[in-house]
Amino acid sequence: MIETRNLTKMYGELYALKDLTLKLEKGDVYGFIGPNGAGKTTTMRILATLLNPSWGEATVCGYSIYNNAKEIRRSMGYMPDFFGVYDDMKVIEYLEFFAAAYRIDGPARRRKCEQVLELVDLGYKRDALVTSLSRGMTQRLGLARVLLHDPQVLLLDEPASGLDPRARIEMRALLKELRKMGKTIMVSSHILPELADICNKIGIIERGVLIFDGTVESAIQQVRKNTVYLVAVSNDLNAKAREHLETHLNVLKVEDVPEQHCLRVTLADGVEDGAFLVDLLLKNGFRLKMFKEEEIDLEDVFLGITKGITN
Ligand SMILES: Nc1ncnc2c1ncn2[C@@H]1O[C@H](COP(=O)(O)OP(=O)(O)OP(=O)(O)O)[C@@H](O)[C@H]1O
Ligand SMILES: [Mg+2]
Repeated sequence: MIETRNLTKMYGELYALKDLTLKLEKGDVYGFIGPNGAGKTTTMRILATLLNPSWGEATVCGYSIYNNAKEIRRSMGYMPDFFGVYDDMKVIEYLEFFAAAYRIDGPARRRKCEQVLELVDLGYKRDALVTSLSRGMTQRLGLARVLLHDPQVLLLDEPASGLDPRARIEMRALLKELRKMGKTIMVSSHILPELADICNKIGIIERGVLIFDGTVESAIQQVRKNTVYLVAVSNDLNAKAREHLETHLNVLKVEDVPEQHCLRVTLADGVEDGAFLVDLLLKNGFRLKMFKEEEIDLEDVFLGITKGITN
């Protein structure tokens, strides 16, 4: 649904985007992650046919950005990172204005507007002035606007930026809803954890270069190759337990985690199931107080991948 090949944008000497090659299949939700100035907005504006690349190829729904801009705009919805709303316009008027621009006419227009308002949960604000909406509501209205013409592909540039935690959760729920509808979505963010559970693929971009492209699981694997467990035994015997664990062949290393009163046990390469740790401890007379696989901190994964490249 989206395909780019060596897509490059230069501003003077600066590569805002360098040789971007990626592919989104139908139904993909692609998290496009990178720090400020990485090239996320540049990419989306090129795909939305609002900006010409310096060179390289890109197609959206099979249409070329060079020759079929009109067709692309019909089949794609682009929500920019910042968009203005007009003063003195009610929410419903705002949507009808854009629906008219999309040539949705007659009774279908009002119906469509009401429908997208319901989808983004703003039905109760239909007669409010757009300028009276909160930031989160304005973002949702912006999303409603790009859904009017029922696009197959959505380009959403940081839809959750500036939202409070609750509004972020709502935005995520909304994206999941769109995913269920079968839309192909490219969504950008600064932070990986925010997108990890709604995306089936992610791309990490830094200074115009795509440094990772794949599933969230493969990103985790790239950074953390070994499984880690947190273990604690009763009666302050962690230090003793440590001696037993350390000598096992399937254990790579054991570290103290004083703030959690437990041990951090890293399994040897290729060992994934830590159940043998339980057997070992029980066999040696220890009583287990805590035993769990350490959760992966996605922020660490992000840092690991970006560091791996820059170093
Ligand atoms: N019109 C322009 N003229 C010159 N340089 C530009 C222009 N637009 C963008 N750039 C540069 O291109 C690079 C990529 O910018 P871009 O806006 O795509 O980043 P971004 O990933 O969207 O960042 P952010 O997270 O801050 O939104 C930056 O170094 C930026 O300064
Ligand atoms: Mg941006």
